[in-house]
Amino acid sequence: MKITVFSTKPYDIRFFEEVNQQFGHDLRFLKVHLDETTAGLVTDSEVVCLFVNDNANAAVIGQLAGRGVKLLALRCAGFNNVDLAACREHGIRVVRVPAYSPYSVAEHTIALILTLNRKTHRAYNRVKEGNFSLDGLMGFDLHGKTVGLLGLGKIGKVTGQILKGFGCRVLAYDPFHDEEAVRLGLEYVSRDELLAQSDIISLHCPLTPETYHVINETTMRQMKPGVMIINTGRGALIDTPALIEALKAEHIGYVGLDVYEEEADLFFEDLSAQIIKDDAFMRLLTFPNVLITGHQAFFTRNALQAIAQTTFENIRDFADGADLKNEVKAGL
Ligand code: NAI
Repeated sequence: MKITVFSTKPYDIRFFEEVNQQFGHDLRFLKVHLDETTAGLVTDSEVVCLFVNDNANAAVIGQLAGRGVKLLALRCAGFNNVDLAACREHGIRVVRVPAYSPYSVAEHTIALILTLNRKTHRAYNRVKEGNFSLDGLMGFDLHGKTVGLLGLGKIGKVTGQILKGFGCRVLAYDPFHDEEAVRLGLEYVSRDELLAQSDIISLHCPLTPETYHVINETTMRQMKPGVMIINTGRGALIDTPALIEALKAEHIGYVGLDVYEEEADLFFEDLSAQIIKDDAFMRLLTFPNVLITGHQAFFTRNALQAIAQTTFENIRDFADGADLKNEVKAGL
């Protein structure tokens, strides 16, 4: 099939071309994000492949339908950037990669926790400069700490398992209960209990109208002073101005972010020679207890290989008229 692939980076092209040898699709790679101004670049493609910061809103879907697009193949798990109702209206089907490597994101979550706690990023720079002072580098034992996971799906569960290995008590809030998680020693609690009892809170739920700004002034007030918040889920799970205020008030002790609400204008690009105009983002960078990575939690070679494989399998199933096991639909 002819596939237009938006937001491509050299690493996408490498893995897509490698895996495509089994499938033989006709690939057209575009560097730009999909939005109202770029949808017109799709010509002669029934399939459009998207990533996290492509914007498939209703206007874009209308344009794509007019250009003959029949399938949106998301090469990610989250689908908050796609207007599913508009897709249904225009007869465009949507598939995603629900799981590629929960380990990649869970392990990055742990990297953020350990770095914030033990300050290895600061120690690395100090030692390079011959500064062996330990002032300001003191951490705490993870052993015995209570970690709350908001969302206990594939990534949350792997994160919980790893944290059990550190000797943490792991609490979870999720509307769906999973018996295997209980067997692993993870404890389901109410959201209020999780917020009140956790020393570290990590977000692993999808971004939905219900979870939008789930971390806000009110919920942060329910947390222990000095709490660590980690977000490898989606940026808009956190109300950024409220987070900045809570950091300034020294109520929140540490913040580790791999995602940011306004990341579409920043992440995945080298902006080191430019003026960044997002004041909230720049303010976050000034806190010594905030660590930000640019949406790299998924970025392992195992995950990229698996993403390409599942994306092409989804497209092959569509081409064959087979059951689309990874389809996402409005209202589900
Ligand atoms: P999943 O679908 O396996 O698990 C999500 C869990 O969240 C489910 O168990 C669901 O019941 C739960 N949930 C739904 N609404 C909730 C609510 N209101 N409160 C608490 N829990 C709720 O998804 P998976 O694979 O674990 O991924 C989780 C999220 O991680 C994705 O939606 C995506 O946004 C993000 N992600 C981030 C990546 C990165 O590179 N930073 C890469 C992959 C995913």
